[in-house]
Amino acid sequence: MKKNKAFDEFQANVLNELNVGVTEQDRIFSPERTVYDTYSLRPKYLSEYIGQENIKERLKLAISASKIRGEQLDHVLLAGPPGLGKTTLANVIANELGANIHITSGPILEKQGDLAAILTNLESGDVLFIDEIHRMNRSVEEILYSAMEDYQIDIMIGKGPAARSIRVELQPFTLIGATTRSGLLTSPLRNRFGMIFEMSFYTENELKLIITRAAGLMGVTIDDESAFLIAKRSRGTPRIALRLLKRVRDLSTVRNMTHINSQIVGEVMELLKIDEYGLDEMDRKILRLIIDVYKGGPVGLKSLAASLGVTEDTIAEVYEPFLVQSGFVARTARGRIATEKAYKYFGINNYGGLFSEP
Ligand SMILES: Nc1ncnc2c1ncn2[C@@H]1O[C@H](COP(=O)(O)OP(=O)(O)OP(=O)(O)O)[C@@H](O)[C@H]1O
Ligand SMILES: [Mg+2]
Repeated sequence: MKKNKAFDEFQANVLNELNVGVTEQDRIFSPERTVYDTYSLRPKYLSEYIGQENIKERLKLAISASKIRGEQLDHVLLAGPPGLGKTTLANVIANELGANIHITSGPILEKQGDLAAILTNLESGDVLFIDEIHRMNRSVEEILYSAMEDYQIDIMIGKGPAARSIRVELQPFTLIGATTRSGLLTSPLRNRFGMIFEMSFYTENELKLIITRAAGLMGVTIDDESAFLIAKRSRGTPRIALRLLKRVRDLSTVRNMTHINSQIVGEVMELLKIDEYGLDEMDRKILRLIIDVYKGGPVGLKSLAASLGVTEDTIAEVYEPFLVQSGFVARTARGRIATEKAYKYFGINNYGGLFSEP
């Protein structure tokens, strides 16, 4: 097909995206949120929510039971890497309960009063969703303990010797907390959740379903093979699957096609430099760093982060989970090591201490 001006522009945009992509911001594989994540692609009910079967089963049971008893649902903690659908699931739970949802996040609750104001405004049966709940500061978190346990809070009024605490009764509510690092949650907070769900990466088939459904919502069709090609490169993460789908749809738009075929997918993946394992340039950079600079490891998070110019959190939450899950990197007590699979990937022979590249 003849390339036109729109296509050149598209290519320029993608390349542009890639340049920044190798740093942390806007990397196509970054499972972090970006502005173009559209809300309309989010499923509204459990029946539309694909995957996480065990979590759905347990939720269905708990939601039905709470409805029969006419009681609020137990507090729920959703834990897992970015982009796996925690926020989506929180909204789904509220919809299934027929409850209002109030949304806030750990870092924006600076003072006890911020959280107290939200809690005292909740109506009976409401859902309070606190995103990034591990990033709430300790004094704010303490308010949450009694709120979760007894539906009451003690607020301090005034300062110095005149300070006194007053008790405020709350309406029964359900707290849904989301965290990308369940290990960072304090145990008093963790213990107050009735249900703790660790979300897992999605299978290629589940991602295929998510992609096909989203394509429909975007007004394009996609064949099975193409959906599978995207799914394979989505690192088990719906947000990445949808982002790749959007870039593929961009190309179909400029080609004036409403059907996505494997040729279009292939071209876009090539532009984005994403290989069949789902690795992009940043992943390759991390692996080469471990192999070449750190002699295969073990290397600590700190050194890796410093060499790459990103934060330790970013490596631990964003890049590492997929590299570990797909067997390119292993975590040991002394740090991260490149596995044999990683050496093979680059065609490097790591035995005998000599690197021999073909
Ligand atoms: N099970 C699913 N079925 C269909 N679409 C999904 C599913 N899970 C997630 N998505 C889609 O993936 C995108 C990311 O999901 P979501 O924002 O809920 O992730 P998250 O876990 O809250 O991420 P973060 O940790 O960054 O907040 C959304 O656009 C949502 O529509
Ligand atoms: Mg979220």
